[in-house]
Amino acid sequence: MTSVLESATPVTVRAPAKVNLELFVGPRREDGYHGLSTVYQAVGIHDEVTAAPAGEWGCSVSGRDADSVPTDESNLALVAARTLAERTGGQEPVHLSVHKDIPVAGGMAGGSADAAAALLACDAVWGTGLGKDDLAEVAAQIGSDVPFALRGGTAVGSGRGELVAPVLAKGVYHWVFVPSAGEGLSTPAVYRAFDSRNEGVDVPDPQPSAALMSALRSGEASELAPVLDNDLQPDAIALQPAIGEVIEAAMGFGALAAFVSGSGPTVAVLAATAEGAIDLAISLTASGVAADVMRATGPVHGAHVLPAARL
Ligand code: C5P
Repeated sequence: MTSVLESATPVTVRAPAKVNLELFVGPRREDGYHGLSTVYQAVGIHDEVTAAPAGEWGCSVSGRDADSVPTDESNLALVAARTLAERTGGQEPVHLSVHKDIPVAGGMAGGSADAAAALLACDAVWGTGLGKDDLAEVAAQIGSDVPFALRGGTAVGSGRGELVAPVLAKGVYHWVFVPSAGEGLSTPAVYRAFDSRNEGVDVPDPQPSAALMSALRSGEASELAPVLDNDLQPDAIALQPAIGEVIEAAMGFGALAAFVSGSGPTVAVLAATAEGAIDLAISLTASGVAADVMRATGPVHGAHVLPAARL
């Protein structure tokens, strides 16, 4: 006999990638994480997770870079589902189908997007009725960027990145993202490189910059460009020097700014207009600098349930 849950409709959730407009890294804390002051922007590159009641827990992955995503218990979507089930007192198993568009290990929080999407999808399938704050708290247990992937928009992140508050950002920004042609970068490895580079240095507690806030209130990409900043950029470039060449080429092709997204290796390129983004995308690929580029605008919404597909 099919249980009520097994006959429940699967739920699909989309969650966005992010770029850090500013990423200031503080000293390493006792728990191993670094205190951060960051400004996230959600951008229109999405992963989708479908949660379907099933006889046993499991997940499958399709889409971009699918081969490099684990489908065992270490999969972040599955970790998220398990954590939510535990938190809400045990739930029926689900199978999660993850469809990826966000580059894996790219510095765009793809794994975090999958976790956020799984949380929202399972919340809907199970009817757990957790509020936004409770979901954000579960999200924070899974990864530093997961609460932001739930919320989206443009937001300041503090703590280790998991404490998120919205900021006033006007305008639409036109981005071109250049994923690495080679391997992704491991986030812990980039933070370790940051620590080695700053050994013996008195790293200050990070603070958001007033200049970035003011640029975001203007809504002008030309005001945003000069104040974009990422403390991890030198470390990502040291680990993968090709990143530096992509940045230089993008600037040469007329980008307003080009910088490392999060812990890299994806390079975020800011254009003045939608047409400018198309031109940059063409120049970067036609010149052979980039094998592949992705265009997106930001900000976009955080994780959201998609309407059920019509059968
Ligand atoms: O929180 P998340 O699991 O995404 O972090 C992955 C790794 O990145 C951590 O284990 C840590 O090595 C590093 N990290 C950090 N400080 C942060 C966020 C991440 O050192 N604020």
